[in-house]
Amino acid sequence: MEIRHTAEMEWENGLDVVNAMTPEFRDHLGPADQIPETYVKYEQKTLTIDPETTFRGDLINLRPGYADLTDAYHDSVEECFYLSGDNHLTGDGDYEGGHYFWRPPGIVHSASTREGFSGLLFLEGKSEGDHSDYASRRIRPLEEAGQCVTEPDWDTAMGSRGWVRLNTRNVPWVEGVHWARTQGDTALLDIEHLQVKVLSHNYATGAQSIMIRLEPGYRQQGPLALDSRFYGFVLSGSFTVGDETLSEGSFLQTEAGEATAGWASAEGATMFAKLTGFLGATSA
Ligand SMILES: [Fe+2]
Repeated sequence: MEIRHTAEMEWENGLDVVNAMTPEFRDHLGPADQIPETYVKYEQKTLTIDPETTFRGDLINLRPGYADLTDAYHDSVEECFYLSGDNHLTGDGDYEGGHYFWRPPGIVHSASTREGFSGLLFLEGKSEGDHSDYASRRIRPLEEAGQCVTEPDWDTAMGSRGWVRLNTRNVPWVEGVHWARTQGDTALLDIEHLQVKVLSHNYATGAQSIMIRLEPGYRQQGPLALDSRFYGFVLSGSFTVGDETLSEGSFLQTEAGEATAGWASAEGATMFAKLTGFLGATSA
């Protein structure tokens, strides 16, 4: 189990971030002489990273006036849950706090912001199930923005979950007991006291990105182990996992099959979460 309290973490400056990127990303950001003035407006706190697959998740904070130096596509799925601010994506549209996208590989875009924005940004990296390849950045002309330039057949280009773009406020809270019909064995998970917004999901593997709302008094029957790897970022409220308390800005990662204490929430909590498969749990 990994827990990170982002409120207690220092922001990493964008220039350091650039230097730590994989060459496939770093060497394709645009004109070298403009990188310092651009990336000084980019800050991040790393939530999770897997060097093997190049999967990563970051809390990012872009300062007013940040703009990508070129349009580009990634060989990886890119995903963002917006916390606040404004972001324009070429070939796509405008995003603000509470908005979300999951973009399949190969679609050309660039990002800019007027007043700045913060969000949870994920590059899926190598994932057969989610039709995603290693993280990369490949420069393309602005005229191609919004097009998929790696896969001519649009149906195929949409990959595992489609090009999802939505305002999460317009997505319904689904009762846990209804959502659980599409999941694994949830008997230990107090599913009667949670609701879910499904933002994107993979019907084949069960992998999904969701918002979870725990009602006050929520309590799992632990210790237990989830069937899938879980990532969760707390948006509001708080809950405990054994001795650990997670509150706004806390990030939790647990591995498939890893035994943990059951979660409990006295006041309730809301989080953005990613699961690598169907949700289910066994006693541990
Ligand atoms: Fe991107």
